[in-house]
Amino acid sequence: MQLADEAIEYSYVNALQSFSETWSPLAELQAQNLLTKSRIQALSATLLQVRGQVAAEREVIEPRPEQQPLQPGFIDLPTRLLDSLRRKGDGSEIGRILKLAAMLRDEVDRVIVLGIGGSYLGPRALIEALCPAGHNELPPNDRVGKPRLYFEGNGFDNDSLQELLDLLEKTCIDPEIREERWGVIVISKSGETLETAAAYRVFRAEAARFYGAQSPRCKQLIVPITGAKGRLRELCKADGFNGDEILNIPDSVGGRYSVFTAVGLLPAAVLGLDIRALLLGAAAMTKTFLEEPFERNPVLQYVAVNHLMNEELHKPLRVLSVWSKKLEALGFWYDQLLSESLGKQGRGATPLTVVETRDLHSRGQQHQDGARDKMINNLLVKSPRLPPIAIGMADRNEDDLNALSRKTYPEMLQAALDGVNQAYRDVARPTADIILPAMSEHTMGQLMQMLMLATVVEGRLMGVNPYGQPGVEAYKKNMQKILRG
Ligand code: PA5
Repeated sequence: MQLADEAIEYSYVNALQSFSETWSPLAELQAQNLLTKSRIQALSATLLQVRGQVAAEREVIEPRPEQQPLQPGFIDLPTRLLDSLRRKGDGSEIGRILKLAAMLRDEVDRVIVLGIGGSYLGPRALIEALCPAGHNELPPNDRVGKPRLYFEGNGFDNDSLQELLDLLEKTCIDPEIREERWGVIVISKSGETLETAAAYRVFRAEAARFYGAQSPRCKQLIVPITGAKGRLRELCKADGFNGDEILNIPDSVGGRYSVFTAVGLLPAAVLGLDIRALLLGAAAMTKTFLEEPFERNPVLQYVAVNHLMNEELHKPLRVLSVWSKKLEALGFWYDQLLSESLGKQGRGATPLTVVETRDLHSRGQQHQDGARDKMINNLLVKSPRLPPIAIGMADRNEDDLNALSRKTYPEMLQAALDGVNQAYRDVARPTADIILPAMSEHTMGQLMQMLMLATVVEGRLMGVNPYGQPGVEAYKKNMQKILRG
């Protein structure tokens, strides 16, 4: 199912103390800021027990009150979806997703995805990582039938919403021409989220205006993705959607763990990503997590290092340092995953995403020299997808780059990474590397599943429930009270 050279690795040698028999200022700094192998070893036994607990939770049918909420459905979901695709083909959930994606591609040139939090960040992470950055700007022929895609319904930003509506108004004149038609994917598990619900109302009205209130396109070009109950499902039923036309988010899968439901898969499939490879990657990571010993288990290793850094070495800031612009949105997705899952009971590391080398020119000083409150996880892609670009020779050499003319962008990036890791190591600042062999659906599947599993394991280790987000309710209640008087 998975080739060895496709597997993600976690390398944490730069978070470990070097062996030293004599005292030196650096050895002292390392003792205070880096981990020992034996400490990791000691925790690994506990982590194997926690893994057993997380695995057993998958079998719980009726959680006890103190276990609730319990939503481990994401763990086996990729395997279940792939099995059902094999057995039922077009009649499976993946079959339905692919059919709806093909319908949207055939019918429209613009898709607006409405959703927030877990109903937004996963699809955005996938699309930014795996589609060309300029996708929306490409002429239709170069996009080979893939629509342009926009995200809305993720805030109350009046001007951004109006700008998107203006764009549609200026570019979509004739609803009979595919290139001028647009559709909507509206995503809300609860169906109650105001940001998404308000935007959906605006776009429904806009669809009625553009296609005509009685046009079948007002329903055909909208794909709702929601939970089993809630206002969005009720609204869609009232609008005449039948059960098959609404994609489901299972109860057993929490919002921020839902990227491998229709939430992430439909937008990805609309843009032609290989969702089967995504699921294969995620399923492979679940298997590795459940079956491999600590030494070959990136999920457990990631938890061990990051948990000890926070709880024992007092480094509450967990930096995800992504070495590709295309992974910034993945970082935002992880920000939410970690914050909402573990930021409870006055505990939980604070996530921070930085993009390198861009942010070496912004936060680098602080990471090298500021408070010793950070654990940095580099997220690296070994090989670029496209041919390496070299600096090149110039007739005159005012910029003094001719000596580097054969150096390529991947070589410069590697030099920066080695340089920064060494600079941090020299002053006992801990780093570790999550290494993706390449940027692909398969590796993104592994990566996202790895980080979701690690978050649940860390929560269980801390005694914090990684599911649910009671803290987010307070602002929502206040906001509703303010709005409704
Ligand atoms: O993780 C979660 O459950 C939340 O972040 C939700 O995804 C977010 O609040 C959006 O909720 P909904 O999908 O119900 O609109």
